[in-house]
Amino acid sequence: MAMKRIGVLTSGGDAPGMNACVRAVVRTALYHGIECYGIRRGYAGLINGDVVQLNERSVSHTINRGGTILYSARSKEFMTEEGQRKAVSTCKFLGLDGIVVIGGDGTFRGAQALSKYGINVIGIPATIDNDISCTNYCIGFDTAANTAIDCIDKLRDTMQSHERCSVVEVMGRHAGFLAMYVGLAVGATAVLVPEDPFDFEQDVIEKIRRAKLKGFTHFMIVVAEGAGSAADIAKRIKDTIDLDPRVTVLGHIQRGGTPTGRDRVNATKMGYLAVQLLKEGKTNRVVCTREGGYVDVDIEEGLAMKRSVQEMEIDVLDAMTGSISLTDN
Ligand code: F6P
Repeated sequence: MAMKRIGVLTSGGDAPGMNACVRAVVRTALYHGIECYGIRRGYAGLINGDVVQLNERSVSHTINRGGTILYSARSKEFMTEEGQRKAVSTCKFLGLDGIVVIGGDGTFRGAQALSKYGINVIGIPATIDNDISCTNYCIGFDTAANTAIDCIDKLRDTMQSHERCSVVEVMGRHAGFLAMYVGLAVGATAVLVPEDPFDFEQDVIEKIRRAKLKGFTHFMIVVAEGAGSAADIAKRIKDTIDLDPRVTVLGHIQRGGTPTGRDRVNATKMGYLAVQLLKEGKTNRVVCTREGGYVDVDIEEGLAMKRSVQEMEIDVLDAMTGSISLTDN
């Protein structure tokens, strides 16, 4: 069946590069003579018929913009069967031959639901958490990481002057990829991630003590929000050793800003590929990056895959802070 009309939506936590991706979907569709509708506010928009027809110019000057011009939402109604049926009715009413959904794991579970009702759907991973296991890369991660790195570099200047300890909380409710990457990039004393329950004495205090013994005068502790609150950890440090840590919660700052080149290019290629897949008659697939290239994976299989922060990253971090050599000596 030839594709005549498709829809595109962004859902869940926004990520820098989503606009570049929407732009690529729209322009690839139009390039192939396929009409494209933007569905606003994610699955809520699909339920309510909140849609707008997009042309080439609708997405002009968006490749460099953070956020999402289509808005984003987490729809509770779409989790119900009734909500899903309404969304399917909208698809049928609009005559959509397929939908591209851009977001994280919740977005893909939504895609699965639509697919069960016979709607052709392709997912594109976009989340600053980078926690979709079937892909090496999710749109938004690079920008968010660089935003956090930039903020922490600034913090380090003042920490160094005052010989202080900083506890910085980065995003990542269930995943520590962002925290670990950022921690390595800023030379953190310790990084706490949700996947690896930490021992406060050994993983924080001991690391600070060892760093002190080596002559370090300021200490950076990076905490993924899912591992614990920066305020709690700072208080525990204060109660345990002679330091008065300052707390910084980077929060939603990490989700905004101009997407990096890496995010724009990945977003553009993934948007292009999603439309190609729909054109080939494929459905219920997610576009993934693998070893420098791109593949597509069944959404169900993709959601079942597991990927975690690597042991190697933990080892590298220990080596950089010198904690291992002191233990061994
Ligand atoms: O998009 C992922 C994420 O930023 C998580 O890292 C964070 O826990 C969550 O979204 C915050 O979501 P909300 O937008 O609801 O505050």
